[in-house]
Amino acid sequence: MAHWPKCLLLVSLLVMHFSDASRLSTSFNKFVSGSSDDLPQGNSTRWAVLVAGSSTYDNYRHQANVCHAYQILKRGGLKDENIIVFMYDDIANDPNNPRPGTIINSPNGSDVYAGVPKDYTGDNVNAKNFYAVLLGNTSGVTGGSGKVLASKPNDKIFVYYTDHGGPGTLGMPNMPYIFANDFIQVLKTKHASGTYDEMVIYLEACDSGSIIQGLLPEDLNIYVTTSTDTDELGWATYCPGMNPPPPPEFHTCLGDLFSVSWMEDSDSQDLNFETLEQQYLKVKNRTLNSNDTSQGSHVMQYGTLTITNETVSVYQGSTPWNFSANPVQSLGSMDVVNERDADLYSMYQRYKRLTNESEQKEELRNKIREIRTHREHLDSSVDMILSSLLANANGPVRNEGSALVDDWDCLKSMVRTFETHCGSLTQYGMKHTRSFANLCNSGVNMEAMDAASKASCRSYNMGKWNPTAVGYSA
Ligand SMILES: *[C@@H]1O[C@H](CO)[C@@H](O)[C@H](O)[C@H]1NC(C)=O
Ligand SMILES: *[C@@H]1O[C@H](CO)[C@@H](O)[C@H](O)[C@H]1NC(C)=O
Ligand SMILES: *[C@@H]1O[C@H](CO)[C@@H](O)[C@H](O)[C@H]1NC(C)=O
Ligand SMILES: *[C@@H]1O[C@H](CO)[C@@H](O)[C@H](O)[C@H]1NC(C)=O
Ligand SMILES: *[C@@H]1O[C@H](CO)[C@@H](O)[C@H](O)[C@H]1NC(C)=O
Ligand SMILES: *[C@@H]1O[C@H](CO)[C@@H](O)[C@H](O)[C@H]1NC(C)=O
Ligand SMILES: *[C@@H]1O[C@H](CO)[C@@H](O)[C@H](O)[C@H]1NC(C)=O
Ligand SMILES: *[C@@H]1O[C@H](CO)[C@@H](O)[C@H](O)[C@H]1NC(C)=O
Repeated sequence: MAHWPKCLLLVSLLVMHFSDASRLSTSFNKFVSGSSDDLPQGNSTRWAVLVAGSSTYDNYRHQANVCHAYQILKRGGLKDENIIVFMYDDIANDPNNPRPGTIINSPNGSDVYAGVPKDYTGDNVNAKNFYAVLLGNTSGVTGGSGKVLASKPNDKIFVYYTDHGGPGTLGMPNMPYIFANDFIQVLKTKHASGTYDEMVIYLEACDSGSIIQGLLPEDLNIYVTTSTDTDELGWATYCPGMNPPPPPEFHTCLGDLFSVSWMEDSDSQDLNFETLEQQYLKVKNRTLNSNDTSQGSHVMQYGTLTITNETVSVYQGSTPWNFSANPVQSLGSMDVVNERDADLYSMYQRYKRLTNESEQKEELRNKIREIRTHREHLDSSVDMILSSLLANANGPVRNEGSALVDDWDCLKSMVRTFETHCGSLTQYGMKHTRSFANLCNSGVNMEAMDAASKASCRSYNMGKWNPTAVGYSA
């Protein structure tokens, strides 16, 4: 086990980026207003499912994103009965929140928490409920409001998910995580049930392209845009000490780059006059953020691309809206911290502000240390396991455009076997699912994985990261 340096050199771990303040052109802002309803003739209802996949104050931004999305849809005319919200709901009243009872998603933004329907909170934010909600399966949900996507053949569906992710997987605040094969199967089943006309999915997570690539058929009438390519970090923004900064009393990031890009666009445009393609291009440009993969990512498109000809209002709604009353957001490049380090970054900001030595400060220092120890352990044990099981540590090369893995049960078993011996992957360690997929793609059997995991992690005390206590990721 690695030894602890006396002094935490956290700054070196945290990837911060300070870039020039060049502004993007705002000439695309048309500031036209209108109220025409772009929905097709007949009985068509707009539905939405919004999911924040994390919990804890250091992940403030994901729930802030989802609350903001709700406000856009609500203003756009969607009814609460047609908007289903998954959020852990531990942010607004967290003792660290400098503005109790409220949540903001941008430095000068107003409260986005008010009025948000709390359909699925706490333990009820889980993959099983998410799938049941999408399928409109009332008897499949446990707890919560029981609201499901009871959509009809003419209906339009908007799905927005924001959180941590890893190759082939999306986080949830309760285990297990979402795995791409299960999610895609749910979409296929939904399509087969004939209960929607078209669906649009906005997905923000690290490696989110891997949830869709090689898996989603193009004929399901589903268009997906993801914040990153298949193997790329996502980025948190509006972080303390960065530019643009949150209000000084906040020591957590307020949003994520892809999410604030689409939402600030939706806030500032008349969505009756903007197509999904136009929004995609603007979001892609802004999320590239100086076109440097150390501070931006490649927004992707998948599925039924003809849908991108439709206006954004078909999914997000649109009502007469005084655009000049809405502060146009900065479109310049934004300082960011990568998703996987954003929670530690936030803890460290909190730590720095505790000027006096106190129990609280000591506690936070220990917490940061523990997290770092576990991360290092995860990284080194995965390395050790790979080198003992694979001749080529990267595994076989897959064809361009193919899915991460063919045998998803194998991938899940690899994850569980690893966690049994080495402890929970956590949202940080999700990045290693590609390595586990490569073991499957190379035909490594589970006995060999079991032996290698046991050997690599024998001396590690997993403590609070024991999967029998926190749950298995797969
Ligand atoms: C894309 O971003 C660049 C700067 O990064 C900017 O110059 C350009 O105007 C942007 N294009 C659009 C369509 O927003
Ligand atoms: C719309 O739905 C209502 C109630 O379900 C039904 O009475 C009506 O005939 C439908 N109209 C059309 C155009 O399908
Ligand atoms: C917030 O408002 C202040 C004061 O008006 C302004 O200087 C700043 O640029 C704004 N921040 C953002 C991110 O728009
Ligand atoms: C609904 O979910 C329950 C519990 O998971 C399952 O047994 C049932 O088959 C599902 N019904 C449909 C129609 O999918
Ligand atoms: C980003 O960089 C790549 C490679 O350097 C280049 O091909 C591409 O045109 C750039 N895109 C933008 C929007 O600047
Ligand atoms: C959008 O519509 C135009 C005109 O109908 C068509 O030519 C074009 O191919 C469509 N684009 C996509 C991406 O389907
Ligand atoms: C729109 O907002 C601006 C800025 O707050 C205000 O000056 C203007 O009167 C508003 N226009 C309408 C039609 O409400
Ligand atoms: C922190 O220390 C300073 C200087 O020693 C003292 O004035 C202040 O009251 C202390 N604050 C707290 C919260 O203990």
